[in-house]
Amino acid sequence: MKTAGKTKEIIIVEIKTRQVDFSRCDTDMLVIGHFSDSKKPDRICFDLCKLLEGDIGRMIQLGDFKGKEGTSAIFYTNGRIAPNRVLIMGLGEKKKATVDTVRKAAATAANKAVGMKIERLSLALHRAVEPKLDLETAARAIAEGTFLGSYRYDEYVTGTENGRLGALSVEIVEPDEQKRKKLDAGAAIGIVIGRAQSYARTIANRPGNVINPPALAEEAKILARTTPGMTCTIFDEKQMSAKGMGGILAVGSGSKTPPRFIVLKYTGNRSQAQRLPTVGLVGKAITFDSGGISIKPSANMEQMKLDKSGGIAVMATIKAAAELKLPVNIYAIIPSAENMPSGSSCRPGDIVTTLSGKTVEIQNTDAEGRMILCDAIHYAVKEDCDVIVDIATLTGSCMVALGKYMAGLMSNDEVLARQLQKAAEQSGEKVWPMPCTDEYAEEMKSKIADLKNIGSKWGGACTAAAFLRQFAGDKKWAHLDIAGMDVFEKPSDSYTEGSSGFGVRLLTTYLLNFVNRSHK
Ligand code: BES
Ligand code: MN
Ligand code: ZN
Repeated sequence: MKTAGKTKEIIIVEIKTRQVDFSRCDTDMLVIGHFSDSKKPDRICFDLCKLLEGDIGRMIQLGDFKGKEGTSAIFYTNGRIAPNRVLIMGLGEKKKATVDTVRKAAATAANKAVGMKIERLSLALHRAVEPKLDLETAARAIAEGTFLGSYRYDEYVTGTENGRLGALSVEIVEPDEQKRKKLDAGAAIGIVIGRAQSYARTIANRPGNVINPPALAEEAKILARTTPGMTCTIFDEKQMSAKGMGGILAVGSGSKTPPRFIVLKYTGNRSQAQRLPTVGLVGKAITFDSGGISIKPSANMEQMKLDKSGGIAVMATIKAAAELKLPVNIYAIIPSAENMPSGSSCRPGDIVTTLSGKTVEIQNTDAEGRMILCDAIHYAVKEDCDVIVDIATLTGSCMVALGKYMAGLMSNDEVLARQLQKAAEQSGEKVWPMPCTDEYAEEMKSKIADLKNIGSKWGGACTAAAFLRQFAGDKKWAHLDIAGMDVFEKPSDSYTEGSSGFGVRLLTTYLLNFVNRSHK
């Protein structure tokens, strides 16, 4: 079996912008959008329609295509215009359209293109949403969506019988040169974010026998080596022990592969680095969560290879931030362990001393995420981060509370929570606020140690967050519980199953907004 190495793109996606008339656009497929509440095709549709001898208009008039969100229709142009095919994407009601509408439409188009083995895809989706969305915003979402939809994970499928093409060449097309320039600026950001998200999905999709904590540490080293402005420090079990990281050591103690404490640091613009604020991103990276001695039921346990998703989202985010050369300092802190049952595992009842000095009674070895995060959050506090955001597949309770549409958001700072909510709206990676107040913290008190690692039967996402909050001291801190958001369980029109890469768009958008605010 292949071991971890440089993470090449599984499907190479190239995105450019091009100034061209739609009817002259030589391409395998031109993609346009259509709203369900516009009776006639819009300008671009209308012009194409004329050249296609009324085909598109007829279809709309006959009611065969209503423009409902998620629906689409393909036209074969038969030499009447330069594109070989025209794909019309339904965008739903115009008044309900958001940036996510275009992102999803681009994802669905890209997914179809890969399915159809199309090599050249040309997107004009920005036209439909203009002027509701500015061109930069639209192009960024189109680029992100293209990565999302074209992504495939088949690195361990041998042979080439399925014949998938290795590359997809995408362009955002626009006849007006001024507009094309604006599209280009937005696409440049979307490409970085989209590619980072695909990178996250690939590493997260790799199974536990390929990505264990030392292998993840190797990936982080490669990332730092290949990204300007980034450094990587790894603590092995001996160094963690010397520092007193009792939480992560306890969780990792049952596995043959030892835990690793990974710290990536990005310094924005060296000359003014000292004056720049520092954001600490902390991500849970359990490379496999069997539950340990408090072992999980076997059904769906294979999904617990994705328990490293938070840590990987943080790695991909710092990669994107560095490539965007954001003027901010970032710590990506990724505690990584494998939670396994064995003769050397920690036991229910064990008491450990965490990095902060606080003692924790482990009542359930399956509540391991908080045990590694408490050391990592304390580490971020000690490094004097101005803001700390952690992201983790932390509790099944969060899924019970919110389902699989939104991540839980807990914070000790209202302003920070609102900023993350805003980033969630913009990125389409949704969050919903949940409490982690003193009532919940009360439940986490142990009789024989400072804290215990589980609360009562109820409000498990909130008690877990209240546990973590106590390690953030008086720093501004927020927590994202992404249990359930880490995976697309079923393939849809816009993406394939497996890791979703959730958090990369959200956190990168948060950082982009952060630097824009501090520059004003
Ligand atoms: N990694 C799991 C949470 C999880 C569950 C993520 C399902 C994604 C899907 C976490 O480590 C865990 O096992 N949490 C326990 C906590 C409990 C023992 C207090 C849970 O949610 O059951
Ligand atoms: Mn667990
Ligand atoms: Zn877990």
